[in-house]
Amino acid sequence: MPSYLITGTSRGIGLEFVRQLSADPANTVIGLVRDKQATEQRMKEWKRDNIFTIQINDMADYASLKNAVEEASKITGGSLDYAIANAAYVSKLTNYFTFGDLPELIQKDMVDAFLVNVVGVVHFFNLTVPLLKKGTAKKAIALSTGLADDNMNVNFELDVSSPYSVSKAAMNMVVAKFAAEYKREGILFMAVAPGLVDTGAGDMHPNASELEKKRFNETYAKFMAYKNTPPITAEESVKAMLGVFESSKTGTDRDGAFISHLGNKQWI
Ligand SMILES: NC(=O)c1ccc[n+]([C@@H]2O[C@H](COP(=O)([O-])OP(=O)(O)OC[C@H]3O[C@@H](n4cnc5c(N)ncnc54)[C@H](OP(=O)(O)O)[C@@H]3O)[C@@H](O)[C@H]2O)c1
Repeated sequence: MPSYLITGTSRGIGLEFVRQLSADPANTVIGLVRDKQATEQRMKEWKRDNIFTIQINDMADYASLKNAVEEASKITGGSLDYAIANAAYVSKLTNYFTFGDLPELIQKDMVDAFLVNVVGVVHFFNLTVPLLKKGTAKKAIALSTGLADDNMNVNFELDVSSPYSVSKAAMNMVVAKFAAEYKREGILFMAVAPGLVDTGAGDMHPNASELEKKRFNETYAKFMAYKNTPPITAEESVKAMLGVFESSKTGTDRDGAFISHLGNKQWI
């Protein structure tokens, strides 16, 4: 009876994790979201009774996360097999700007990204470790991105999404620190990037400026220079990542690793 606790299951990749995992009635799949009602509405047509959705205030709200993990613990009987930190602050403000484009707005955006993508993941892992210890699989995964890889950024001149990229690189170190602390107890911590995924959410916000559109087109061309292939679907990405989660074992070079959905450092 494997159990999964996943953050950010309201849409995108998180929602697809729930869809694929709940297809096996033996799995218990619990999602943490900011809008339980809207999320349950989206899942209604699947008609699955092994999905549980729990409301949280925000990934950066420790008390709210604590209550939610306690509620999840009651559903699973106190144990957990997989903790998946999927929720992320993906800035609409700086996504297609460089550091130099917005010097006065950068501080707020960096702090917002850090709170959710770094501190929020620390909270989530601290709260789920006691449950993972009692689980069978004992795996904790944080969703990362190729944008957190310094070689990819420099070699392909990926100069946008900077606060997001910095926060995800810091998150990778969070994963390494938890691996350092818990690998001796047999808990696997990994950062896994999902590839370039088209979640159907659209790439630009509706009020994107001409400069943002230009930066978006330049960035897409740089991704294509890295690997000339269109974005994959959330279904393809999640299927590949679940394969990586399954095949990865603690006590190997996967402890604290930062890898992609392909199980290596190929990010797209
Ligand atoms: N899509 C890609 O190509 C891609 C590439 C590389 C890495 N990733 C990573 O993969 C993961 C999923 O990506 P995605 O494309 O599915 O993202 P998304 O569509 O933007 O969804 C983000 C999820 O995180 C939740 N969230 C955002 N801020 C939150 C907060 N402060 N507190 C609680 N929940 C919050 C959102 O909830 P609400 O609905 O309430 O806003 C939503 O469920 C992220 O970690 C992302 O960084 C994605």
